[in-house]
Amino acid sequence: MPTALIIGNSDGIGLATTRRLLDAGWSVTGLSRSESPIEHAAYRHRVVDVAAADYAAVLAEAAEPTPDLCLYCVGIGEAIDLADMRDEVRTFEVNLTGMVRTAAGIIPGMVARERGHFVGLSSLADELVSHEAPSYPATKAGFSNYLAGLAKAVKPHGVAVTTVRFGFVDTKMAKGDVRPMMMSVDRAVHHIERVIAKRPRRYTAPKLAIPLVKALRFFT
Ligand SMILES: NC(=O)c1ccc[n+]([C@@H]2O[C@H](COP(=O)([O-])OP(=O)(O)OC[C@H]3O[C@@H](n4cnc5c(N)ncnc54)[C@H](OP(=O)(O)O)[C@@H]3O)[C@@H](O)[C@H]2O)c1
Repeated sequence: MPTALIIGNSDGIGLATTRRLLDAGWSVTGLSRSESPIEHAAYRHRVVDVAAADYAAVLAEAAEPTPDLCLYCVGIGEAIDLADMRDEVRTFEVNLTGMVRTAAGIIPGMVARERGHFVGLSSLADELVSHEAPSYPATKAGFSNYLAGLAKAVKPHGVAVTTVRFGFVDTKMAKGDVRPMMMSVDRAVHHIERVIAKRPRRYTAPKLAIPLVKALRFFT
């Protein structure tokens, strides 16, 4: 039975992917700040905040033995408040440092086994600059850049790393009145299944959003 560790799976894309993998016969461990709505014989859940001091210890216990797949789905993003910028710091801790802490906890075990797949959910926003929420695209830029380098570092050791760059996906995270080309959560999970099967270094969906992002970049 293949094993997966999914970080950020009490809701949204992580929750739907967990359900899909369990249906496909995987054994899954999930981590998030909330309890999981899933009850399944092949599922266990740990409650933890990826920015908390005890995260490394909880992750180490949850990742024993080293899983075949680790999927980092945690992400937050809020409009900037220039009178109180603590959320800016938190966004970096959760979106970027949390992912690197996860890789640091998981990749050495995968390298030792000479197999494994680490997948991080970044965003097409990794190419953008935002004056409304500068931290979100900045964390995703660092996220995508870091995983691109990590992918090259681990490839000779039989381990794959994939950066997934989605446009809008229909979850509570997709805020704003204008959400062009928004895809369903089901469609997003379908893309993740392709990523698990093919293990590309980078995967972007929907492809039609790429020229839109390039144009937006020109105007920001
Ligand atoms: N939805 C979109 O339009 C979209 C587009 C492009 C990329 N993405 C990326 O895709 C990923 C998943 O997004 P989503 O739409 O599924 O978001 P979501 O519905 O808000 O789910 C986020 C998950 O992360 C968990 N989480 C948040 N903060 C956490 C923390 N500090 N520690 C542990 N878990 C935490 C949440 O659970 P708890 O609250 O229980 O902790 C939840 O399970 C994110 O990285 C996002 O940036 C989303």
